[in-house]
This record gives sequence, C-alpha cells and structure tokens, in this order.
Amino acid sequence: MVEELIISHSLSKEEKYKELLPQMKALVESESDLIANLANIIAVLKYSFHFFWVGVYFVKKEELVLGPFQGPIACTRIAKGKGVCGTSWKEEKVIIVPNVDEFPGHIACSSATKSEIVLPIFNKNNEVALVLDIDSDELNNFDQIDEKYLTEVSQLITSFL
Ligand code: SME
Repeated sequence: MVEELIISHSLSKEEKYKELLPQMKALVESESDLIANLANIIAVLKYSFHFFWVGVYFVKKEELVLGPFQGPIACTRIAKGKGVCGTSWKEEKVIIVPNVDEFPGHIACSSATKSEIVLPIFNKNNEVALVLDIDSDELNNFDQIDEKYLTEVSQLITSFL
C-alpha cells in the first residue's frame, strides 16, 4: 500500500487524474474490504481536487443510504428518483449539474454546493449498487474530463464489489 500520495497541484485537471489513478489503484489493490477502499478513494479525491464534498450512497431496498464521505454532514436517505443522486440511480447514468439551482428537485445538503457530478456504480450483475456524489462550491466545476476519469474510479470500485 502506498503511504503518501504524490499530488502535483500545478498540473491541469486531466494530468492530475492521470497522475492519481495509478496511485489510487495501488492504494486499494492489496485490500478487499469495500468500506476501507471507499474511504481511501474518497479521501484521495477530496484532498487532490479540493472538492467541497465527496461521498457515496448505497442502494438499500428502495432508498439510497449515506456511506463513507469527506466533507460536511449530509442527508442520510434519498428516495429512488429524488435529487441528483436518486435520478442517477433511477436512470442509471452519469449526471453533471453545472448549477444546482437549475436542477429540479436538487437536494441541498449544504447551501455551499454550487455544482455536482453523480455517477452510478454497478455491481457484477450490472445493477446499481451505489452512487458516487462529488459536490463543488464553484459553479460549473465538472465536465467530460471528470466524467471520463471518475468512470475509471467507478470501475475500480466495481472490481471489489
Ligand atoms: N445533492 C444531492 C444530495 C446529496 S448531498 O449533496 C451530499 C442530490 O441532489 O441528490
């Protein structure tokens, strides 16, 4: 397991993802516990990019339930189809919200959140098992570069589900 991450803050966002992903894989490769690996992956994302909030919600029956996260306290349960997270789960797709005030039904766990990206994470039966939610306190902070590399993170999480 790596003990210290190399994070070059002067790099572009894409270069930073490219630098971090191999380190993230090395961090989790010798550990099989889901919660331990999620906790470390979330910490890597939070501290590398200074996102406002990074965490996961697990699919449990007809709701999402809060899992490991870094950032301020958050709502614990979200119904299927509600908010960005519940919509990502229901529609089984990545959702980028450039301005949360313009997303109908957005659930505001914090008024500081201005934009977000949510990715569904599939288990090996191709069902959504959890969602990865990343919030920024800046408007329009997520784009196709985030989607591309965070999809790789989602696939890494799928590998130990
Ligand atoms: N904004 C999310 C709720 C989760 S929190 O932001 C941590 C949503 O609309 O689903």
